[in-house]
Amino acid sequence: MAKKINCLISAGPTREWIDPVRFISNPSSGKMGYALAKEAHNRGFDVNLVSGPVSIRPVDGIMVTRVETAEEMRKAMLEKFDSSDLILMCAAVSDHKPKFQWEQKKKKDQFPQNIEMIPNKDILLELGQKKKKLQTLVGFAAETESCEENAKKKLNLKNLDWIALNDVSIKDIGFESELNEVTLYSSSEEKVKLSIATKEELAEQIFDIITK
Ligand code: C5P
Repeated sequence: MAKKINCLISAGPTREWIDPVRFISNPSSGKMGYALAKEAHNRGFDVNLVSGPVSIRPVDGIMVTRVETAEEMRKAMLEKFDSSDLILMCAAVSDHKPKFQWEQKKKKDQFPQNIEMIPNKDILLELGQKKKKLQTLVGFAAETESCEENAKKKLNLKNLDWIALNDVSIKDIGFESELNEVTLYSSSEEKVKLSIATKEELAEQIFDIITK
């Protein structure tokens, strides 16, 4: 019997806590990542989904690891990376986190005027450095300007096989929307523009392209 394809997908936002009741995050709904996980499952792949906090229920049969912070997501992704054939890093990872987290809730009148931030590690960059020949690594880029240029830069810098660009300056697509518009760029200089569609439809097209 042919070996099953192991597919690892990250989805949703991360939360970077300031104190027990406040965090820094972003509006990612996780819909694109969950649609990709569902599509991979429909294709008979073994699917591991590493998910930030979202309100979507994954379909049965998908292994879900729930995480909150970027560091937790990094650990979960690294743990499963070596045994995965196809890795899609769809999560909207917070680029920065507060340098200090207070254990107790900061009172309103004691809340600092400035919060010192430090960068989170770039998970995808690390995965790209570890990538083996037979693994396929796909990143996502949400851009508002110089979109193609920025996406191609990330494709090279992070040693990806494909990057899926979405222009989040266009109203009604991306982040919390049901719809998305994606252009795929490959390390062998292919460019495939997928027209506006539901995230489920796009997930199907994305898998057709990256597995061909
Ligand atoms: O560089 P930028 O954050 O725009 O790249 C987006 C891609 O990098 C996405 O695939 C995202 O999941 C990934 N990323 C990551 N770790 C970070 C920031 C982004 O894996 N700290």
